[in-house]
Amino acid sequence: MLSTDVEKALNEQINFELYSSYIYLSMSAYFESIDLPGFAHWMKIQNQEELVHVHKLFDYINEREGRVTLTAIEAPQLEWESALDAFQDAYEHEQKVTARVNKIVDLSIVKSDHATNSFLQWFVQEQVEEESSVKKVVQDLKMVGKDGHGLFMLNRELAQRVFVPPADSNA
Ligand code: FEO
Repeated sequence: MLSTDVEKALNEQINFELYSSYIYLSMSAYFESIDLPGFAHWMKIQNQEELVHVHKLFDYINEREGRVTLTAIEAPQLEWESALDAFQDAYEHEQKVTARVNKIVDLSIVKSDHATNSFLQWFVQEQVEEESSVKKVVQDLKMVGKDGHGLFMLNRELAQRVFVPPADSNA
């Protein structure tokens, strides 16, 4: 059985992961609007990954006989100044996600909730990957600068991203 505090924190994380998925879907729409379909595709995959995170938390709360409570999702930003602006925002957002995951890990330690601590280690590792993959695109975009050919090539590269659901995911 989950403590009230841990249950609340996990439910808040579900909301934040849904918000994350919403942001990336909004970024995908933005990239479609500026004719960068490869970037739009990359963001759509990112949106799918966020939904995996949502489902993991959803299933875990239920497994621990907690109660999932869904609340309103904040509206995402709609426009960005450039591809770099959007990816920089995405990177900052992932850092916020990491900080939130770490806070719930801290709470699980305070509450001696070893099961939640163990469950959250997947998210701790996942965030290393999440930050790193977004940061890589930020660095590529900085290198490309205003070079149209470079942007064209990066757009092609990002179009290759494939969604790989984790083995234990129902997403
Ligand atoms: Fe669910 Fe991108 O963190």
